[in-house]
Amino acid sequence: MLIKNAHIRGTEGITDILIKDGKFVRIEKNISDSDEEIIDAGGNMVSSPYVDTHCHLDYVGTAVTLEPNKSGTLFEAISILKTANGKFTKEQYFSAAEKALKWQIANGTQYVRTHCNTDSPDTYAMEALLELKEKYKEYVDLQVVAFPQYTVEHYPNAFENLEKALQMGADCVGAIPHTEHTREQGVESIKKIMELASRYDKLVDVHCDEIDDEQSRFIETLAEETIIRGLEGKVTASHTTAMGSYNDAYTYGKLFNFLKEARMNIVCNAPINTVLQGRFDSYPKRRGLTRVKELVEFGINVSMGSDDIMDSCYPLNTANMMDILNMGIHVCHLTGQDELREAFKMVTDNGAVTMHIQDQYGIEVGKPANLIILPAPNEAEAVRKMVHPIYSIRNGKIIADSKPRTVNLHLMTESVEDFEFEA
Ligand code: FE2
Repeated sequence: MLIKNAHIRGTEGITDILIKDGKFVRIEKNISDSDEEIIDAGGNMVSSPYVDTHCHLDYVGTAVTLEPNKSGTLFEAISILKTANGKFTKEQYFSAAEKALKWQIANGTQYVRTHCNTDSPDTYAMEALLELKEKYKEYVDLQVVAFPQYTVEHYPNAFENLEKALQMGADCVGAIPHTEHTREQGVESIKKIMELASRYDKLVDVHCDEIDDEQSRFIETLAEETIIRGLEGKVTASHTTAMGSYNDAYTYGKLFNFLKEARMNIVCNAPINTVLQGRFDSYPKRRGLTRVKELVEFGINVSMGSDDIMDSCYPLNTANMMDILNMGIHVCHLTGQDELREAFKMVTDNGAVTMHIQDQYGIEVGKPANLIILPAPNEAEAVRKMVHPIYSIRNGKIIADSKPRTVNLHLMTESVEDFEFEA
């Protein structure tokens, strides 16, 4: 495959990209190779595919298959999700997750980290997601996190279930320390799962401090355990919404240096936490988000995730990272010109760092030929127009394509104007 007239995101000018045997082999101007299938990018932006670093594929569709969440709060959602334990077959988990994975692929995502609840007495959800990972490995890199939704310390068999999930093939282990009964249990739960990660050589992704309580500081324990165990760069703190309420002396005087030393990855799930947090506030209401802008300025890796897809926690979402990015840009104040470019990395390059796959990610000679072509010249225009990828290419093959959105306008003229959303 030969891609002509590409503006590779993060570079200057227009270039051509030659792909052979599923890998990038040449990236330079004026390549001619008559044997290859040619795609003319027309000067549009070519990017590495989207990376969705946080979702819950085992919960997909529970907004309609379980009792409705009337309040819209996380607390009601979690109590509803408890009724899912033992309710669904492996096939039901598989088909719901497969539907969402296809949405992700259709939207230009080729790298996904999903959490999988391990609290059910059966292992159907984990079995389904691991089968899904295998079935779609040609199209998407899927990592599965063993996630103890109802705590490690006092939910029956929680720790044993986590270990079993890792033995079955889960890629990462999680925890949820802020919902343990006591601070001590939260600390203990982190120590236990970090020991598991070390023993099984797995990555870590903790639902960490997803609460508006300014005293929820389990991220410091997670960073400390990361450094002690030499797991720098392999550990992710998801949500960390309490950070939005920490005092500045703690945040900048202590925490940020510590997070940088641990090479902690932070995942922000902007649409979901914007609606789930701040529920106990009157006015002004907190946004309930981690400090995305400040973390990035400090040199700490931040990526974004779609989190809940049409489930009990959040009834909306089509797993489109452009939607997630757009929301994140707004609620995190990232509308500066350079910030828009940086924000785009949070659904691409930074996500690859979070998933610890950066060696295989990026448009560089020798790497797998995975890319998307967006009908926009740069990041700012892509977000302004909320474009959809016109091509998603995986190992040198088209796995999704679409036409740019057009509308037929019936206005002053007798003819119908084929209107494109150009400036
Ligand atoms: Fe989550």
